[in-house]
Amino acid sequence: MAMEKHDIKTREDIELMVRSFYDKATRDDLIGYIFNDVMKVDWPKHLPVMYDFWDSLLLEGTYKGNAMQPHFAINKLVPLETPMFQRWLQIFEATVNELFIGETADLAITRARSISEIMNFKMNIINHPEQQKGNIPLVNPGNQNG
Ligand code: HEM
Repeated sequence: MAMEKHDIKTREDIELMVRSFYDKATRDDLIGYIFNDVMKVDWPKHLPVMYDFWDSLLLEGTYKGNAMQPHFAINKLVPLETPMFQRWLQIFEATVNELFIGETADLAITRARSISEIMNFKMNIINHPEQQKGNIPLVNPGNQNG
């Protein structure tokens, strides 16, 4: 029998979400190479950090890092542009919607949207200082979940 979709409730759910997200993101034609080739991510080290990050945002985790910080370093190697954040978000939302349904799943998407919006804004200021009004919304305002 196929499993009914449920909400994000446990650490196991968070881990499944994060692993499924990276499974897609690392194969993606627009952003995959940043993880695989540019940053050569140390997955056994990075995955638990991401479990803690999402656990802290959604359940009861203990992430104490700075989520923005590594992206400034990445941005020096590969400028992180709006279409990349749109793709990141598209993959994240597809992953959550594929696996889960409920309030916490909606919250995951809302949080991802606002953080990627801020991250994109910060990178745009660095990458396109001449475009004072160059911030392009990642999500159509008519299409927000929360
Ligand atoms: C195009 C978009 C993005 C790319 C290419 C990207 C890529 C990466 C890479 C390569 C790392 C470093 C992994 C390592 O330690 O080697 C990282 C870390 C991280 N990313 Fe992203 N990222 C993106 C967007 C986001 C967004 C939107 C969020 C949050 C919603 C996010 C959350 C994080 C967090 C929490 C870390 C770990 C920070 C720490 O070490 O404490 N990323 N990302």
